[in-house]
Amino acid sequence: MYSMKRIIITAWIGTSLGALILMLSTMFLFENIPTDYYALIFVLLLGYLPLILIYQYLSLVKQRFVFLIFTYIILGISLYVAPYIGHVIFYFGLIYAALFKEKIYFVFSFFISVLVYSSVIYIHPIITFYPFIEIVQLIVFLSYTLILYFVSKMMVQQEMLNSMYTKTMEALVLAIEAKDEYTRGHSTRVSEYSMIIGRTLRENDYPVDLEKLRISSLLHDIGKVNISNDILQKQGKLNAVEYEEIKAHPSFGAEIAKSLEFPEEIIHPILFHHERTDGNGYPHGLTGEEIPLLARIIAIADTFDALTTNRSYRRAYSIYEARDIILENSGTQFDDRIIPYFIDCFPLLKKRAEQLIELEKKLSKAMDDELKASSH
Ligand SMILES: [Fe+2]
Repeated sequence: MYSMKRIIITAWIGTSLGALILMLSTMFLFENIPTDYYALIFVLLLGYLPLILIYQYLSLVKQRFVFLIFTYIILGISLYVAPYIGHVIFYFGLIYAALFKEKIYFVFSFFISVLVYSSVIYIHPIITFYPFIEIVQLIVFLSYTLILYFVSKMMVQQEMLNSMYTKTMEALVLAIEAKDEYTRGHSTRVSEYSMIIGRTLRENDYPVDLEKLRISSLLHDIGKVNISNDILQKQGKLNAVEYEEIKAHPSFGAEIAKSLEFPEEIIHPILFHHERTDGNGYPHGLTGEEIPLLARIIAIADTFDALTTNRSYRRAYSIYEARDIILENSGTQFDDRIIPYFIDCFPLLKKRAEQLIELEKKLSKAMDDELKASSH
């Protein structure tokens, strides 16, 4: 997982090193350094500076596009001043696309490469364009970069699987669930229900990133590690102060996810899983589609699990009662465009819920028996 900050800083270090090498080599190669080279060194050193100043004010999607555009401006100027670097320009965008792991950047960067390259050829006095050679080279470079793209994608996925990332996540889930016996298994179940709803939405052309949904739903309540046990396990009704403290858990959770350098698409569902479509949720009172899609899915799964399990303050509802309560709140608490898909996959949800609730009962019984045995 690469944060935008890390990508920009790495790119900046790269171009600054390039500027340094260029400065040193021109000192040896030329008696009088051409003015073009001063411009190039200047652009390499400072080209990313405006982006570093503004990137945090842009959305993640804009950050990526603006980053690519900055990169191509810097590369375009480099290519103009040093035409012998030629086709190098075709590599960069594609490598960045591999970093972002999204096909749209792959296609986007390819077209921008062609555009930058052709405009430099057009305005540069000494580069001549031979269509046949260009096309052959283009095909070679495209094949090379396609291979590069898929290899790096596979490497990133493999790395993610084995990394501390997964282990940290498991430890975090354990940490939340250890705090409150009533919510043991809650994160895992919410994640499973979210995935069932998410898959159904995907089949119906909703842009659901299932991997991000899996992680954010597992971690949705991670902010509860910051809330005192007395409040989490309180038997009666919470007073206003205690309720305010509970309401801070999405923001705490988002802070934790942020400090672990999770991407925004994971931080936001954690932050917004208690928002309601009518704007009466917390922490920000967002409405409708302002709430990220993954957060809207998790909100349904979260309530479905809360209703179908025992809580310190009430017994569990049946699976059908839970479904009806969710339906009654369609359009107020939940997004009424997603609820039909919840109904579509309800048979699957029901089946999985029965298995998971049964499993939880067995686990509790085994733990009780062990406790009794050890007290004898
Ligand atoms: Fe929550």
